[in-house]
Amino acid sequence: MLSQALAEPFRLMPGAVRRRPSSITGSEFLAWERSRLIESAPSSDLDPGRPEKDMPADPEFLSRARGEAQGAMRLDIAYIGVVNGLFATLHRLGEASSDALGEAAGMDRGYVARWCDAAYAVGYLDDADGRFRLSDVGTAFRPDAAESLMPVAIQSMLAAHMAERAAGLMRTGARPGEQVLAECETILPWFGPMLEANFAVFFETNIAPVVPVFAEVDARGGLAVDLGCGSGWYLRALARRFPKLRGLGLDGFVENIAQAVRLAAAEGLAGRLRFEARDIHGLALTEKADLIAMNRALHHVWEAGPHDFLVSLSDNLKPGGAIVIWEPNWPTARGALRSPAGQRLAFQNLTEHVQGNHLLRAGEIAQELRAAGLDPQAHLFAEGHEAVVVARKPA
Ligand SMILES: C[S@@+](CC[C@H](N)C(=O)[O-])C[C@H]1O[C@@H](n2cnc3c(N)ncnc32)[C@H](O)[C@@H]1O
Repeated sequence: MLSQALAEPFRLMPGAVRRRPSSITGSEFLAWERSRLIESAPSSDLDPGRPEKDMPADPEFLSRARGEAQGAMRLDIAYIGVVNGLFATLHRLGEASSDALGEAAGMDRGYVARWCDAAYAVGYLDDADGRFRLSDVGTAFRPDAAESLMPVAIQSMLAAHMAERAAGLMRTGARPGEQVLAECETILPWFGPMLEANFAVFFETNIAPVVPVFAEVDARGGLAVDLGCGSGWYLRALARRFPKLRGLGLDGFVENIAQAVRLAAAEGLAGRLRFEARDIHGLALTEKADLIAMNRALHHVWEAGPHDFLVSLSDNLKPGGAIVIWEPNWPTARGALRSPAGQRLAFQNLTEHVQGNHLLRAGEIAQELRAAGLDPQAHLFAEGHEAVVVARKPA
């Protein structure tokens, strides 16, 4: 279906819109560019007297759309290389034939030969006397590269998958939930690394230094609990920064927990960080927490009713403890959706609908925390697109 879309990129239905792919840069959300709504050609719906075949072809529009389709295709090629370790393996080998690369990566030679041609065609690989080596852009797609482009490729494919599911589900209204993320076997293992690559540095440089509650928890060797912890990157970041803080991460996906356990052990943090596969509803901690954090997870449980859920979090906190919620901040005015970041939020909200979720406003999070007996304070980051709401339980 995707290849058909690439072959016939300009058959827009009247009034239809097309997603814009990312250009290849390291910006944290850039892959969501793929979802950007762009101007459609004049619509025969709006002008029913003119047949569609007579619509004028705006050369600028056509050229832009072609470029966007080309960019999406380049990221598709990158995705295949990222999730099958081809960039990483070729980096390790330095130079290799496609057969040698396939063998070293444990992949089928026929597929790898065709991938090498495609990756060469778009400039990820250079030809070195019949062997391949990574170009600078190809090197940047290595997951281990500084400011790796890996998350751009992963997010681009995830966006395409979620868009395809939304397109089909719109016909019935079905909202299958979290499991949609696990439908693509090659995407799921990369979901956590993608989020970590997108948000860990932002957390460490912008959020952790200005939210004093983390240092307070550390000072008393307290327990920070991360609900919906994914790959556990948040607790790892806290544990690296605060040497006495202990952590417990809970997540419903067994695969996420296995990854979190492995990554914490690899960093020598297994002694202070534990992870368990568990539903975060009906929380009953054996040790009350000094801090309960939820990053991009509260909106996953919101539609079932936030009040009882937040009261249960408060019940699991020590007196004087804090809940720290980090969420994308849904804007109060629709006009804000026209900015690049707003477009990404709007597309995310569409895909969240598939999962039974919707994005939240910082104000409504604070309001519900207050209703649960806590004292909330909202901090806004990234020009108001990211909200961290810290809510204290009375001592
Ligand atoms: C968008 S991800 C965020 C992951 C992580 N907090 C991060 O920032 O990278 C949301 C996470 O919440 C988890 N989650 C959602 N609902 C859950 C539930 N009811 N019980 C446990 N985990 C849940 C999902 O499995 C997923 O890992």
